[in-house]
Amino acid sequence: MKMWSGRFRNPLDPDFERWQRSFPFDQRLLSHEVAASRAHARALKKSGILTPGELDAILRGLDQISDQVVTSPELLKDEQAEDVHHFVERQLVALIGDTGYKLHSGRSRNEQIATDLRLYVRSSIDQLQIQLADWLEVFLTRAEEAGTAAMPAYTHLQRAEPVLVAHWLLAYVEMFSRDAERLADCRKRTNLCPLGSGAVAGATLSIDRQTMAADLGFDAPTTNSIDATSDRDFVVEFVSALSLLTLHLSRWAEEMMLFSTQEFGFLNPPDAYSTGSSALPQKKNPDLLELTRAKAARIIANQNALLIAMKGLPLAYNKDLQETQEPLFDTTETTLALLPLVTGWMKEVEFNYPHMQQAAQSGFMNAWAAATYLVKRGVPFRLAHEQIGKAVQLCLEKECELTDLSLQELRQFSSEFNDDFYSCLTLESVLAIHDVPGGTAPAQVKRAILDAKNKIASLRGEVHAHA
Ligand code: ARG
Repeated sequence: MKMWSGRFRNPLDPDFERWQRSFPFDQRLLSHEVAASRAHARALKKSGILTPGELDAILRGLDQISDQVVTSPELLKDEQAEDVHHFVERQLVALIGDTGYKLHSGRSRNEQIATDLRLYVRSSIDQLQIQLADWLEVFLTRAEEAGTAAMPAYTHLQRAEPVLVAHWLLAYVEMFSRDAERLADCRKRTNLCPLGSGAVAGATLSIDRQTMAADLGFDAPTTNSIDATSDRDFVVEFVSALSLLTLHLSRWAEEMMLFSTQEFGFLNPPDAYSTGSSALPQKKNPDLLELTRAKAARIIANQNALLIAMKGLPLAYNKDLQETQEPLFDTTETTLALLPLVTGWMKEVEFNYPHMQQAAQSGFMNAWAAATYLVKRGVPFRLAHEQIGKAVQLCLEKECELTDLSLQELRQFSSEFNDDFYSCLTLESVLAIHDVPGGTAPAQVKRAILDAKNKIASLRGEVHAHA
């Protein structure tokens, strides 16, 4: 039986009927639909609509549905079910008879879908946070293991200044910690319970909304029935947070690809996540990184699809909202599949420390330190900059580094150069002068590793509290 056929004289066009069904995709919400239905059934019993016996039959029926779809997944091929709500009602009636039809008393699919989607987003956030903690952890481990190894840092993709490899890795910890924070923030606004909002104006039976919300682990019931049945901000926020997360993954992938080219030679990507070429026997292609870079496009497109679907909708529920589901599911499933893979890659990639270290010592990356040497001797910075610039020009002609110039050569640019100039320009000295919080001096990086450890531990603590 349909959920709404009474008022119709003629049947639906079969193509339209098939086309408008959401069950082929919203069956992902089944466990949430069952949980929300259990909470609603208990509220119905409390308000006297269901007898204790009927409640018992309904709860047992709902349990059975959950079990049955596991043992007989072909049940999910149900061609009659319009959506997940209809599917549960059909199965329930098949199991316990007409009492099953009582479950829909005082509720609407508009509040149900809003509730199921909130539960889905909440549980997806909790799963992603566990994965994100593992992803952050691998950067931390690799940063600890890098010790005081150095590498060039780039601006405009030109060698700029040397940094500790650990400092570079911790930059990613910051980037991805913000993603974890954004998800945690989104979770707060998601974790409210629409049950009891009815179709648009509120439930028609006196239903205990507080208890239903608490039953489902929500922080509170939603405040306004019109908003609650039409709001998908939590979906947009969640997908937006993931589009930024995957954008970050894409930037990471791009940098890893670049650093593993023969031209850079900083990294040796793990065989386990690379592929060969069918034509060129020598090739090892970074497929995981390339696909990661492309997955971001798909998720950003999903975010766009959601924004565009929502932008013209009047209050309250409109069937357009059904179209928000697939971008949400695709985004969630894509990201959940991606994070463990990039984590595996990052665990296994080999760093070519000697090569990075060597690159950190050439290309005049000590020029700023050289100018600072003059500044400390009272030379105004703009002039010091000019003088070191001229010294660099001489080196370019001579094909050497600043420390290869003699004092005599240096003194044609400034009288302030002395013997101690050379020791200020070693890699160690250059790293050490960046001695401010957030800088690359080894003592600062040591502290930053501790901070990152605490950050990851508190993320794990939050995840644990929600488990
Ligand atoms: N499958 C529908 C959706 O995803 C459920 C809500 C249907 N509500 C309605 N009034 N037709 O939006």
